[in-house]
Amino acid sequence: MKRIYIFDTTLRDGEQVPGCQLSTVEKIEIAQSLEHLGVDVIEAGFPVSSPVDFNSIREISKSVSNPVICALTRAVPGDIEIAADSLKFAKYKRIHTGIGVSEQHIRTKLRSTHDEIVQRAVEAVKLSRRFVDEVQFYAEDAGRADDDFLCRIIEAVIDAGARIVNIPDTTGYCLPVHFGAKISQLVNRVPNIDKAIISVHCHNDLGLATANSIYGVLAGATQVECTINGVGERAGNAALEEVVMTLKSHSELGYETGIVTKCITPTSRLVSAMLNMSVQNNKAIVGRNAFAHSSGIHQDGVLKSRDNYEIIDPKDIGLTDNSIVLTARSGRAALRSKLQKLGFTLRGQEVDMVYERFLELADKNKYFTDDDVLALISDIDIIRESRRIHLESLEVISGTVTPRASITLIVDGVEVSTKSNGVGPIDAAFSAVRQLLNVDYVPQDFVIQPMTRGSEDLGRVHITLDNGERLIHGFAFHKDIVYASVEAYIDALNRIQF
Ligand code: KIV
Ligand code: ZN
Repeated sequence: MKRIYIFDTTLRDGEQVPGCQLSTVEKIEIAQSLEHLGVDVIEAGFPVSSPVDFNSIREISKSVSNPVICALTRAVPGDIEIAADSLKFAKYKRIHTGIGVSEQHIRTKLRSTHDEIVQRAVEAVKLSRRFVDEVQFYAEDAGRADDDFLCRIIEAVIDAGARIVNIPDTTGYCLPVHFGAKISQLVNRVPNIDKAIISVHCHNDLGLATANSIYGVLAGATQVECTINGVGERAGNAALEEVVMTLKSHSELGYETGIVTKCITPTSRLVSAMLNMSVQNNKAIVGRNAFAHSSGIHQDGVLKSRDNYEIIDPKDIGLTDNSIVLTARSGRAALRSKLQKLGFTLRGQEVDMVYERFLELADKNKYFTDDDVLALISDIDIIRESRRIHLESLEVISGTVTPRASITLIVDGVEVSTKSNGVGPIDAAFSAVRQLLNVDYVPQDFVIQPMTRGSEDLGRVHITLDNGERLIHGFAFHKDIVYASVEAYIDALNRIQF
């Protein structure tokens, strides 16, 4: 079997999703989970971009020991020096530097010439090699680049000391057959290619990221760059779970990865909760319906033999039985152990706070499923913050009467109450909140998503406010969607200074 290296960029490319920025603590938790998952490389951030990224790379370097820790840079000396500094404590370290190589990028983004681009690339690699042995070069927008120029620059950076050459389909434009041919060209035409690992980095704008990554592997790439749940800017990156399970399911191709596939589901859930990004129900491998059989014919077939309709054993990806385990009588230890099984480790007081919330929900629920537990945990960043404004009570009237809301908030420790009308119960409640806080922030975006199965479904609400400088995101979940909406609104308002 040929070993394919998995380069995870959830914490760098994946985190570039609007409204999904992570704190250092959250990044460390995800990095540790990626280590358990068995990824070979963790791209931990773009250190020059922000102090949070710089600090996160430092702290991840201290708390993770097996995977290589990688920091992204542009082909700019200052970026490279800062990246080297951020990696100071990493046991295994890598600098990932690069530059745009398509005609589009060279002319309109970099306003440069081919010769200058090659020179900058070579200098960036040489400078990076002064700090670390493992230098990875990315040829940005390689998917749309001229093949002759791509071969030329790849040969030059390998000569300059790049050990890994990353060929990104930055815009997600390529067809699998063309992307595979691009990698074959490098294998066949670049004379020193045997001195480097070829990496593929595919975006999903046409829904082809996994297919392109696999075609890259078939053509000779031995590293695949991907993210958990395929998260990332625009339509995202190649999904780690799809790439890994495709290679595993097609063992006849002769490839293997170091991924502990049983950790896929817990890691997927952790990332989804931390980024506040639900996984689409029919998402391959990790969607909640990925192993659900609802039609009579399929159910009958699966009962006779799972293999009739399933190509993957759900247990292989760590999907535990989603049947009832916890009830209102379960104690803290059971909750903590369930959370651990699902990939979450809570600290000190957090257990008590989550347990309190669990009892509230378990009271209304006969059964408490894995999804309910996950919904609980999605509240965790709210728990971690000290909030100025708390929702004390909410009552709404709607139906054939004018919708009306009575609301009580605790603001800076003081209890305040009011009533308001609106076009619907949510509008009435929001209007009451605005009156109490004397603010006029109106949601720019408002999304309600179901989180669990059945008519007692939990609703997760995502609200976006504009404070004039940037977009502020608020999240909450509850069985009552009016209550969840008000909590999400308050969550967003708590993130604004007024
Ligand atoms: O998509 C891309 O080209 C990238 C590079 C910075 C590696 O993310
Ligand atoms: Zn990318």
